[in-house]
Amino acid sequence: MSDFRKVALITGCSAPSGLGATLARELHSRGWEVFATARKSSSMTGLATAGINTLELDVASKGSVEQTVHNVFKATDGRLDLLINNAAKAQNHPLLDFEPDAVEEYFAIHVFGPLRLMQAFAKPLIKTKGTVVNIGTISSHGLPWQGIYASSKAAAQVQSDVLRRETAPLGLKVITVELGMVNTTRSRLLSMLSDIPNPPSILYPNFAEITRANIDATGKNVDQAPKAESVAKDIINAVDSGFSGKMWTGKSSSLFRWMFPVIPISWQDWIYGKIMKTDMIKPVNLK
Ligand SMILES: NC(=O)c1ccc[n+]([C@@H]2O[C@H](COP(=O)([O-])OP(=O)(O)OC[C@H]3O[C@@H](n4cnc5c(N)ncnc54)[C@H](OP(=O)(O)O)[C@@H]3O)[C@@H](O)[C@H]2O)c1
Repeated sequence: MSDFRKVALITGCSAPSGLGATLARELHSRGWEVFATARKSSSMTGLATAGINTLELDVASKGSVEQTVHNVFKATDGRLDLLINNAAKAQNHPLLDFEPDAVEEYFAIHVFGPLRLMQAFAKPLIKTKGTVVNIGTISSHGLPWQGIYASSKAAAQVQSDVLRRETAPLGLKVITVELGMVNTTRSRLLSMLSDIPNPPSILYPNFAEITRANIDATGKNVDQAPKAESVAKDIINAVDSGFSGKMWTGKSSSLFRWMFPVIPISWQDWIYGKIMKTDMIKPVNLK
């Protein structure tokens, strides 16, 4: 490496307006050496044109993680100051209709991949007194219809908090982000329509109607959600300030920070019924 700029690696940077690419641009604008990664480098041509290093990385693949670690070490003489685990796969399915064999992929992306990256980069990050950022979600409190996404993200958030407690004495900083809605959600909303079980769910025959109602309701909120640029600034400001801990940003995240921990579970269930339309579920006649 030709200079001593701080070095960052970010996963899941394929979407030009997604959070990963936006974090990459924010760090680049602050003078960091950035390695933006995605499954296909062709999805990051905009970042490459802006002078950001791009590497292919499928976080669900052990071999791909090992190759990326090798490539980054080679390019930076083993230096890393910041690792951001951002890659994710969204999901919209009743839990009882979810194919158990497909669960593994969510844990591979949200838990195993980040763990492999954190283990591989631990020594350089500790040497630089660097930071790991794990992008979590308010869905991890148990958002209906996102059970596998939410539970794997919850596992990732616990993993992140444990890492902070086990490595603070070694000088590593770890930030767990409980992220609320960001206006990048729009593309996710459209993918929800293609995720409706086919053939239709036996227990939830009106699931398509429920999904459309959710898309309508969420769509109205998307415009009020902060832009990825604003969320990226919040996160990188926290990194730059030397913060280590848990942070909340994005629309509605303060509700989950302050209100959810203190209200009864029955109220949480009622709120979810209203916001995720579980109150539209109709009894089924099972013969
Ligand atoms: N948007 C929101 O409202 C919201 C709310 C709460 C939390 N979050 C969290 O914020 C983060 C960014 O969200 P976003 O809205 O920017 O999402 P997004 O546009 O869906 O981005 C997710 C990224 O992860 C990548 N990815 C998926 N599987 C991968 C794999 N196996 N290996 C490497 N990359 C993989 C995707 O790449 P491909 O294009 O190759 O699939 C994509 O670049 C995620 O961790 C998400 O859970 C978002």
